[in-house]
Amino acid sequence: MAKLTVRDLDLQGKRVLMRVDYNVPMEEKDGQMVINDATRIKETLPTLELLVKKGAKIILTAHLGRPDGKREPSMSLRPVAQKLSDMLGAPVAFQDDCVGERIEQYVNTMKNGDIVLLENVRFYAEEENNDATFSEKLAKLADVYVNDAFGAAHRAHASTAGVAQVLAKRNAPRAAGLLMERELKFLGDELEKPASPFVVILGGAKVSDKIKVIDRLLEKANTILIGGAMAYTFKLALGQTIGKSLVEPDRVDVAKSALEKAKARGVQFLIPSDNIVATPVKTDKLNKKGKPIFDLQNPKAVSGNFPDDVEGLDIGPETVKRFSEEVRKAKTILWNGPMGLFEDPRFAEGTFAVARAVVEATKNGAKSIIGGGDSVKALNKAKLGDQVTFMSTGGGASLEFLEGNELPGVAALSNK
Ligand code: 3PG
Ligand code: MG
Repeated sequence: MAKLTVRDLDLQGKRVLMRVDYNVPMEEKDGQMVINDATRIKETLPTLELLVKKGAKIILTAHLGRPDGKREPSMSLRPVAQKLSDMLGAPVAFQDDCVGERIEQYVNTMKNGDIVLLENVRFYAEEENNDATFSEKLAKLADVYVNDAFGAAHRAHASTAGVAQVLAKRNAPRAAGLLMERELKFLGDELEKPASPFVVILGGAKVSDKIKVIDRLLEKANTILIGGAMAYTFKLALGQTIGKSLVEPDRVDVAKSALEKAKARGVQFLIPSDNIVATPVKTDKLNKKGKPIFDLQNPKAVSGNFPDDVEGLDIGPETVKRFSEEVRKAKTILWNGPMGLFEDPRFAEGTFAVARAVVEATKNGAKSIIGGGDSVKALNKAKLGDQVTFMSTGGGASLEFLEGNELPGVAALSNK
């Protein structure tokens, strides 16, 4: 069912409470928190510009990190308000709380077109608990609710779901923002009846994370290309040896049934025929979690079975060639998950080569949809992010959506 959008509403003088996903990667530099990637902020600008034009009073609510219901200064949204203001070229006020009388009074002083960003809603445990009283408090700030936080729409929290239910009882509109609308269009409608060949590229660490998506896409795809560490579970399912590679032995059966289903449906299902492997050697250094850091030594390409002492870290040159050929033939492409440990340049070529093939196919008229998370990071790292049809701002949310689940943040919106 189509959802109401901000386009459909008269918002002159209305208090619009808009949930955004400003959960952006940050880093401490010289005692200050600096934003590393502002994509999620940038993608909300069209909605904000439209709301300003419509004369709304814009009250933004968002989370940052996982502060577990406590005030955590490093997770304050204050730097985000500054960044948003710079990007928008207009003032954005910041309030160091998100509910209560003081915030209600502040909102009552706002003029049409004003924007305020409220402090991290997860400083209250009630947010993640989807607490009814807390949702009522948020609803006090709103005549209209807008959700542009696709990336957080898989959470049934107070600011993504509860508040919308309170407003529904008051017959107040709950609309999708333009970013939410775009996400639903590309990850949803555009993949309903994809032009063929429809090629799906899946990577990342775990079969268990992706099996539901694989299962669903086996109904629609012509070709599925598997990379990343999850390919090693598939190799194991085919009786190949994988040395010390990351693997989920308890998912071998699941991998086997995916392979069988692909065969039965005539879906071409390719796993890597060769890989870049390296020998992990324990060092005396520890990572942030206190686990030993391994040196990855002597990287080389291996076809078929792996020797015992190596770990697979990328797809190999033969596989790159094969996968790229398939991608270049595609009319519709969906990509989720990197082909290897692309953060390390020695194991990045598989991911970057696939990225280049996706861009080439796009130039030749294919629709390319990138399902968020690490594949977006990789495309941006390769400076190719602007050369695909669509990149999702969701990580977990896009996966859950591609699995065919109705997301709580979407379900809570008014139908047209
Ligand atoms: C995300 O980055 O995945 C979203 O902002 C949701 O955050 P969460 O995974 O902490 O709920
Ligand atoms: Mg997440």
